[in-house]
Amino acid sequence: MHVAIIMDGNGRWAAARNLARPAGHRAGARAVNTVVRAAARAGGIRTLTLYAFSAANWQRPAGEVQALFGLLRRYLMTETDRCVEESIRLNVIGRRDRLRPELARQIAHSERLTAAGTGMRLRLAVDYSSRHSLSEAGRRGGDFGAALAAVDHSSPPAPAVDLLIRTGGEQRLSDFLLFECAYAELYFTPTLWPDFDEAAFAAALEAYAARQRRFGRVSEGAVEHA
Ligand code: FPP
Repeated sequence: MHVAIIMDGNGRWAAARNLARPAGHRAGARAVNTVVRAAARAGGIRTLTLYAFSAANWQRPAGEVQALFGLLRRYLMTETDRCVEESIRLNVIGRRDRLRPELARQIAHSERLTAAGTGMRLRLAVDYSSRHSLSEAGRRGGDFGAALAAVDHSSPPAPAVDLLIRTGGEQRLSDFLLFECAYAELYFTPTLWPDFDEAAFAAALEAYAARQRRFGRVSEGAVEHA
């Protein structure tokens, strides 16, 4: 099973506490730790993709962008060892050409150290735009899936998304995994990302388990009565 998450609501979480936005992102990074652990323990989740920084996020104030990249780098620096211990394979998807060299180096280092992990695959989407990936893959030609994986630095290529979760109350895809989410079940929750804990994640998985996935076919009951 592939779960993807749009982690929204850090800013509002901070504002509600009279804190600056970067404090919300720091709390968001703690929620990342909680959910990664919960997903690895849940069993059955082979791939978890988190939207950490969209290509559109470059338009945010420079200080906030810097804070987000600082958190990402710190996350990779502190969590890589834990990923190795838990056999989690880390992969950062998205563009690399606009990242600072030290972050690009840290990404390559973390990916190398965790490459032998046979457990869950944790993909962090950074400077990611699905439209950009799709148009670039189309331009390259050849096998589309392979081209898309190459453009995204997704190694190995990831399966389609089964469950897409978005926190923070908005109900949109925001240029995230548009091709991969073709048949994904969508789960929207008003919970702000820093408050999204193990119980909230379990509730999303329960809601998914109760869905009937048909992939364009008729439902089981309908076949019997046809
Ligand atoms: C959206 O909240 C969240 C982001 C733009 C970035 C997500 C980043 C993190 C959760 C922390 C760092 C990530 C890792 C992997 C360590 P928002 O700022 O748009 O919230 P708002 O809609 O309430 O303003």
